[in-house]
Amino acid sequence: MERSLRRDAALRAPPRAPAHGDVIEIGFGAGLNLPHYPAAVRSLVAVDPMRALPRRAAERIDAASFPVERVHVPADAGLPFPDHRFDCAVTTWTLCSIDDPAAALAELRRVLRGDGLYLFLEHGLSDHPRWAAWQRGIAPVRRWFGGCRIDLPVDGLVAAAGFVIVDLARFQRRGRRGLTAQAYRGVARPAKEMP
Ligand SMILES: C[S@@+](CC[C@H](N)C(=O)[O-])C[C@H]1O[C@@H](n2cnc3c(N)ncnc32)[C@H](O)[C@@H]1O
Repeated sequence: MERSLRRDAALRAPPRAPAHGDVIEIGFGAGLNLPHYPAAVRSLVAVDPMRALPRRAAERIDAASFPVERVHVPADAGLPFPDHRFDCAVTTWTLCSIDDPAAALAELRRVLRGDGLYLFLEHGLSDHPRWAAWQRGIAPVRRWFGGCRIDLPVDGLVAAAGFVIVDLARFQRRGRRGLTAQAYRGVARPAKEMP
């Protein structure tokens, strides 16, 4: 999987650019985002239920210019942090892997400061009606076989969790088949009031 995720390296830098202060990343995986964080990042809490750490991930953590704390909990089961603990929250290609992405997003909103930023890069539901119909049809079967979700309306989920999206790009990932090609890259802020 890491090789497949590395293919998207060029997409990772732009969404990380506004990251600053104390950051929480959920779905840390092999730490592929680490080299893309800017100098304004003070610390990173890396949440992922997966305990095994590939050697290259350990090397990336060692090379980071800020401390990285790994926390092994599923984000959708509740994050072990007080409200408004972080300046930034980050997910890349992660919401599709989480059993309850709405619950994970609600937790991210809770732990983010009122003026914090949520930076995301995810794949989800196509804006092409025919592909979207295919995605909706195939998603339950794919999920049953252990595959990730391919029909997440990412922007809608983010908004429903109490964020205001201030920047959003939707585009096709090069070299991907239609079902997982639609990317959502955006920046969101906690809404002043919950929807
Ligand atoms: C497709 S990988 C993406 C990894 C990384 N974000 C990247 O861009 O390379 C999805 C990651 O989400 C993690 N994950 C799955 N369920 C999760 C949950 N409930 N909470 C947090 N992370 C989860 C997986 O262990 C995996 O590392």
